[in-house]
Amino acid sequence: HSLPASIFPDLSGQRALVTGAASGIGRAIATALAAQGVRVALADLNPEAAQAVADSLPGDAFALPVDVRQRASVEAAVKAALDTMGGLDILIANAGVSSMARALEITDAEWDFNMDVNTRGVFLANQIAGQIFAAQGHGTIVNTASLAAKVGAPLLAHYSASKFAVVGWTQALAREMAPLSIRVNAVCPGFVRTSMQEREIGWEATLRGMTPEAVEADYIAQTPLGRIETPEDVAGVVVFLCSESARFMTGQAINVTGGVYM
Ligand code: NAI
Repeated sequence: HSLPASIFPDLSGQRALVTGAASGIGRAIATALAAQGVRVALADLNPEAAQAVADSLPGDAFALPVDVRQRASVEAAVKAALDTMGGLDILIANAGVSSMARALEITDAEWDFNMDVNTRGVFLANQIAGQIFAAQGHGTIVNTASLAAKVGAPLLAHYSASKFAVVGWTQALAREMAPLSIRVNAVCPGFVRTSMQEREIGWEATLRGMTPEAVEADYIAQTPLGRIETPEDVAGVVVFLCSESARFMTGQAINVTGGVYM
């Protein structure tokens, strides 16, 4: 039980599958893991974009197509990752979507879309990789939840519901897998500069009758650390959670928000 030689995590030789890795936070997580010596399978609905990211990374990173809403697609992606890398040590269930609408006007289709990608997608990836981790007796999982998994976010009620569900699932799975020493955690980012945020700023500006610049200024004003979050701000915490330095943490949903949520 001695501490790792360096507090800086050593993940070299490990093999990871990252969903939603073509863009934003998933891309930054894949990049940070690869920089720590991890071989990374970048799974995304957009495999061409994921391949372009993989080509920029060290360590034989590669892309895989996946639609996290579909069990058969997730099974195929996990199997392809296993076959190519000869094993799997880390799952990052990060793929997610959002849309903005007033709660009283959310359509069934919008509700289902958020639930299918954000909640069912995490469930499927965790279960299918979790079965492999249980059989081999090791592995770790990090799910991307959200600030909106801790506080109900206006104009994002469907998204909030889908992300609160991710935290509940993460805690329950963590308890079930703890006897196998398999850790399951989540990260909760705040206002992160990604393509998702660009879309949200546009919707929010329209719905609140503000300029996009005023919406962004409002995000910064809500953030004690005083700037818009970057995908790399999230990725470092994810690498930590995957590492031996976090070996006694499970079932946590870590806020990485610049202090928006304490
Ligand atoms: P993004 O839109 O830049 O990237 C999302 C990626 O997921 C894209 O590459 C997309 O192709 C992929 N994806 C979408 N649906 C998919 C599906 N059905 N199957 C496989 N891949 C799919 O978004 P961003 O911001 O990087 O989001 C990543 C995660 O972070 C999401 O779970 C999101 O909810 C969460 N998040 C984002 C925040 C933000 O402010 N940007 C804040 C808190 C959480």
